[in-house]
Amino acid sequence: MYRTHTCGELRLSHVKKTVTLSGWVQRIRKLGGMTFVDLRDRYGITQVIANGANNAQLQEQLNSLGREYVLQVQGTVVERESKNAHNPTGEIEIEAHEIHILNKAELPPFTIEDDTDGGEELRMKYRYLDIRRNPIRQNLELRHRMAQSIRQYLDKQGFLEVETPVLIGSTPEGARDFVVPSRVWNGQFYALPQSPQLFKQLLMVGGIDKYFQIVKCFRDEDLRADRQPEFTQIDCEMSFVEQKDVIAMFEGLAKFIFKQAKDVEFSGDFPQMTYADAMKYYGCDKPDIRFDMKLQDLTAAFKGKGFSVFDSAQHIGAIVAQGCSDYSRKELDELTEWVKRPQIGAKGLVYVKYNSDHTVKSSIDKFYTAEELHAIAAQCGAKSGDLLLVLSGNTDATLNALCELRLEMGKRLGLRPKDTFAPLWVVDFPLFEWDEAEQRLYAKHHPFTSPKPEDIHLLDSKAHNVRANAYDFVVNGSEIGGGSIRIFDSALQAKMFSLLGFTPEQAEAQFGFLMGAFKYGAPPHGGLAFGFDRFVSILSGCDSIRDVIAFPKNNAAKDLMAECPTRISQAQLQELGISITEA
Ligand code: AMO
Repeated sequence: MYRTHTCGELRLSHVKKTVTLSGWVQRIRKLGGMTFVDLRDRYGITQVIANGANNAQLQEQLNSLGREYVLQVQGTVVERESKNAHNPTGEIEIEAHEIHILNKAELPPFTIEDDTDGGEELRMKYRYLDIRRNPIRQNLELRHRMAQSIRQYLDKQGFLEVETPVLIGSTPEGARDFVVPSRVWNGQFYALPQSPQLFKQLLMVGGIDKYFQIVKCFRDEDLRADRQPEFTQIDCEMSFVEQKDVIAMFEGLAKFIFKQAKDVEFSGDFPQMTYADAMKYYGCDKPDIRFDMKLQDLTAAFKGKGFSVFDSAQHIGAIVAQGCSDYSRKELDELTEWVKRPQIGAKGLVYVKYNSDHTVKSSIDKFYTAEELHAIAAQCGAKSGDLLLVLSGNTDATLNALCELRLEMGKRLGLRPKDTFAPLWVVDFPLFEWDEAEQRLYAKHHPFTSPKPEDIHLLDSKAHNVRANAYDFVVNGSEIGGGSIRIFDSALQAKMFSLLGFTPEQAEAQFGFLMGAFKYGAPPHGGLAFGFDRFVSILSGCDSIRDVIAFPKNNAAKDLMAECPTRISQAQLQELGISITEA
């Protein structure tokens, strides 16, 4: 038997017992003739104490030990003289009788500690060592607990977990597909699913009225901290439901997850905010409502006073940073540089200080009287001691920059604590977005999303004003999930494809099987998908979803450990009928 107990298990109640533990050497200390070894496994760390003085073999073994060696230790549990209150096993230690070195280990390239000296690249290359560290292992444990809760909740609600294919046909909508060449059908390709969207709708046509799947999805898109090329969704669909039914069901699931995984409870329903309000007050469709600091529209108030930057701007907006009127010149200059970064894209930053002595001071004093600035401060609800930060320009870009500035100020002012969770539903998304470069409409969510029945009459005349029965689940400024009520009428679906620029032949070629299925009695249906990795990372307080995925890709879509993607042999290429043109 390799072990009778784990390294996290033994307490004072085990004193005098003979036990066997197996694990990795965390630390070795020598003190006089005694050697102290911290032995670690998934469950904790136990101190082993060995006296090699009377035992030459043991002495030799102790001298040869190194960090991360795999040991089996047999010994007696004894009470420790100097107890360690920080370690659950810190009241005891093991007096070793016998030590077996089960395996040697090379010196790891970074320390296996909570605060490691290893940078992210190194940790990714040796991910199996990184996983030995508490923070990563705890994230995997949380992920496991959440997956268990999800299955428990949905099973109880009558959902069936159904697997859908991973080799599917490529579709032109959404992100780029990852494609897989077919050997049998040379020159033809499968695609990896960006989501099981079409299949879950077909399951509804098949009468499986409550479906879910914890499923891998694949998208070839630009990566960010919250995006991976392969990621996991909690994908769900229901028949005979309206938007409120779907929201109620999955709000229930979200609450269950919060309670089970973090013991966090919410009283009452999650708030719902329209897309229009989210854009107006937060400048984005995923507002962080842990703090207020809503965007202020000052376009009318600032225009017409001879300040050309504002006079020519499409939009002028501001946020009020409470208690920041004493920001120094240096701090304001630094913030100005911050908003000018390419990711934020503002041309400059105007400030209005509403000082504690009720005077006002602004970078554009020349163009506005103190009365005018006072009135503007009052319009924003600013109090003395507050600082107005003003951006201007094209409406979309300015709202976007204000959103980022708001989040940054929220962070600097400590208004975004990681252990506070502020979930909400964003509803009434537009059905389409207009692509200026391509001069065509795109589906904001996806082409199967139903327009609001009361807006259907606008489809031909004012498509951009049509709202969708679509909703996102947002927590702390992160889009954790999204879904919609689907079109289930083949004529309306055909109309949607035509508005998106598909000819009937193209629609038939791409989505013929769905349109065909709709002819055989499709039920009204709708659903949603949570981004599982994002959900875990929000609950774990991690900044990147890479930390909650066992073997993630880096920001350049590479697996540094398995070193992929890789080239394949000429023979493989030939078999697939593929020739590579070097770029
Ligand atoms: P959507 O595209 O909004 O909807 O995706 C649902 C959720 O998946 C997560 N997500 C990602 N997570 C990590 N890396 C990525 N690259 C990534 N892309 C998306 C987000 C997002 O909210 N089929 C529809 C759902 C439906 O309509 O039922 C869909 O996939 O958290």
